[in-house]
Amino acid sequence: MLTSRIAISGFGAVGRATAHLLLARRDRYRTVFGVDVRLVAVCGSRSGAFDPAGLAPDRFDVLEAGLSGPDFIASSGADVLIEAGPSDFRTGGPGLDYIRSALTGGVDTIVISKGALVCDGRALRDRARASGAMLKISGATAAALPTIDLLHYNLAGCTTLRVDGILNATSNYLLDAMMIRGVGLDEALAEAQAGGFAEPDPRNDIEGWDTACKLLILANFGLGADLMMTDLTVEGIQSVTSGHIAQWRADGLAPRLVGSVIRDGDALRASVGIRTYPPNDPFAHIAGKNKAIRIETDAMGEIVAIGGGSGPIATAAAALKDLEHIFQSRSLR
Ligand code: HSE
Repeated sequence: MLTSRIAISGFGAVGRATAHLLLARRDRYRTVFGVDVRLVAVCGSRSGAFDPAGLAPDRFDVLEAGLSGPDFIASSGADVLIEAGPSDFRTGGPGLDYIRSALTGGVDTIVISKGALVCDGRALRDRARASGAMLKISGATAAALPTIDLLHYNLAGCTTLRVDGILNATSNYLLDAMMIRGVGLDEALAEAQAGGFAEPDPRNDIEGWDTACKLLILANFGLGADLMMTDLTVEGIQSVTSGHIAQWRADGLAPRLVGSVIRDGDALRASVGIRTYPPNDPFAHIAGKNKAIRIETDAMGEIVAIGGGSGPIATAAAALKDLEHIFQSRSLR
């Protein structure tokens, strides 16, 4: 039986959920793909406290925090890296070092954190091509909502004219709570944080940056754009007032924080902001922490996908979807 050695860098809620799910699915990987999957290393500030809850504690070495990317990759002997660390879209975060090292060494890489892809996406793709490593990014592009796979696989063969996405669960939850339940922003935010889908520092959610990161990655990886964050107009929901809420209610409109990419000749233009939808539009019905994407194409018409869970388990499952796609692509089936 083939063996796949997995390392996880970044060990917060998502990294830990990924480890648990991976270990819990070892029988499935053996049965479906004929692969003995081993978690060989984890790295991150909370890695020392990992409790595998009885899931094969003999199968991995926990490496301490603070190892550089090259040292972590080399000492783990991994053939797949899952990067789940904190994501800083201005610097690439600590994850950039791990991803670069893995791709340079030909290690297939599944990226959940968005920062490195926003900062250095093109160069990372070039590294992957040069070494033959696979670079998979479902976890960074709205996770359980199908987005990048729609563009790469389902809509291959046509030209995408426009993408609109409700890509941030937190801002949708907050807008819905304010509109439907009349809850204040702070109270709704506390609910979203308790649910594990709002960031501990939720400014990225509320100010539109999380939506912008996902949109930029989708545009660059899915549509062949070469956008930087400074190319996007980004507005969040932080300035919504009770006056806005009352007006939208009176007009029968549903507000959503939407990221849009629009093809304009040879150019792709991207922006994030509040758009309002009448009741007959599917986007008016994306309730609570749900997400959605609408894609207009030249030859395959319009596609709308709605739903997909939010939170650590759903994100981990999206990353492990990428792992199964790697097994399929490498014909480990
Ligand atoms: N905080 C994000 C959201 C999840 O609310 O969608 C991570 O991207």
